[in-house]
Amino acid sequence: MGIMDSGHNNKTAASVTLACLVLYDSSLILPFSGNYNPFFATNHLASSDVNITELKSILKNATMGGNTVIITTLNDAWAEPDSMFDLLLESFRIGNQTERFLKHLVVVTLDQKAYARCIQLHPHCYNLSTNGMDFSGEAYFMAADYLKMMWRRIDFLRTVLDLGYSFVFTDADIMWFRDPFPKFHKNADFQIACDYFNGNPSSLRNLPNGGFNYVKSNKKTIKFYNFWYNSRVTYPGLHDQDVFNKIKFNPFIKKVGLSIRFLDTAYFGGFCQPSKDLNKVCTMHANCCVGLENKVHDLEIMLGDWRKYTKSVANQMAYRSKGSWTVPQLCRGSFSRKHTPKKDHNQGSES
Ligand SMILES: *[C@@H]1O[C@H](CO)[C@@H](O)[C@H](O)[C@H]1NC(C)=O
Ligand SMILES: *[C@@H]1O[C@H](CO)[C@@H](O)[C@H](O)[C@H]1NC(C)=O
Ligand SMILES: *[C@@H]1O[C@H](CO)[C@@H](O)[C@H](O)[C@H]1NC(C)=O
Repeated sequence: MGIMDSGHNNKTAASVTLACLVLYDSSLILPFSGNYNPFFATNHLASSDVNITELKSILKNATMGGNTVIITTLNDAWAEPDSMFDLLLESFRIGNQTERFLKHLVVVTLDQKAYARCIQLHPHCYNLSTNGMDFSGEAYFMAADYLKMMWRRIDFLRTVLDLGYSFVFTDADIMWFRDPFPKFHKNADFQIACDYFNGNPSSLRNLPNGGFNYVKSNKKTIKFYNFWYNSRVTYPGLHDQDVFNKIKFNPFIKKVGLSIRFLDTAYFGGFCQPSKDLNKVCTMHANCCVGLENKVHDLEIMLGDWRKYTKSVANQMAYRSKGSWTVPQLCRGSFSRKHTPKKDHNQGSES
């Protein structure tokens, strides 16, 4: 997610193992072994440095119909010229009818430099700099600050839900090529993209990637985000995605009535499992990739692939073999094979 989602992917193998553990070890399904129930320890809107008044005004100005906004986060390294932020904005511009979404995109910046660059380029920037914490630079996966930053994001998003706004959260290394809304599940509360999609949108055994999700603001999702955020205490040292992979099996979810759906990588793809048909793709994520430079390199090529594809469509050329990506390139090499799940997913000829 956020700043270095490669971390999530490094954890993919671990997630598979954990998912199996959770499935087969019922003791892990019940996290409240003591008296501490994280859900009841919650305090709404308590995020210490969220400026509610400013946030409300930004959300109000950015919202589309149905009180829905698109949200991404940005730090200094990703906001630099010719880096991720520029690529993200470019994808919205060259995507098929996606430019109109830019006026609904709220960019949450994590440091001063990112904020300064954001306001140069974009109308909706929110400064979420946390006092005394430096989120600039390339965060190192699992470093304490990185963890804090990821949880900060969940905390922020629950505030957005609390304020009555639904959101599409999208990591800045996710390129938008088509309107995703027609591909969302109609009646789900919480929908999330996958590193690896197993074909069944309801299967909790999918391997989600929290870098892209669509969450409707309602009582169920607010309770769920409180539960998720507070579960960081139950699972110290884990980041939000790994904790999600644990709590997705928790009876609490059923009790709340939260409906969860996993998004098909045919529409919401990534380098882990690319969407194969350019006629279908809505978004593509630079997941399964370590290192900002590798990501930027491959995403530039991806945008080039898309431009070629749209040109050929415009020229009425029959786009044989549905078009195809020429990526991942550097990303493939950056991502160690031993971290990718082998049993459940066909990794083909990856070497
Ligand atoms: C509201 O959003 C528009 C762009 O959609 C922007 O031009 C304008 O400055 C924003 N106004 C405020 C008060 O943020
Ligand atoms: C952003 O927020 C931080 C922490 O609240 C604050 O110190 C800083 O002045 C803010 N920056 C801007 C440009 O508003
Ligand atoms: C873009 O969308 C329009 C309308 O849905 C469609 O006619 C056109 O073929 C699309 N172009 C591409 C490149 O997908």
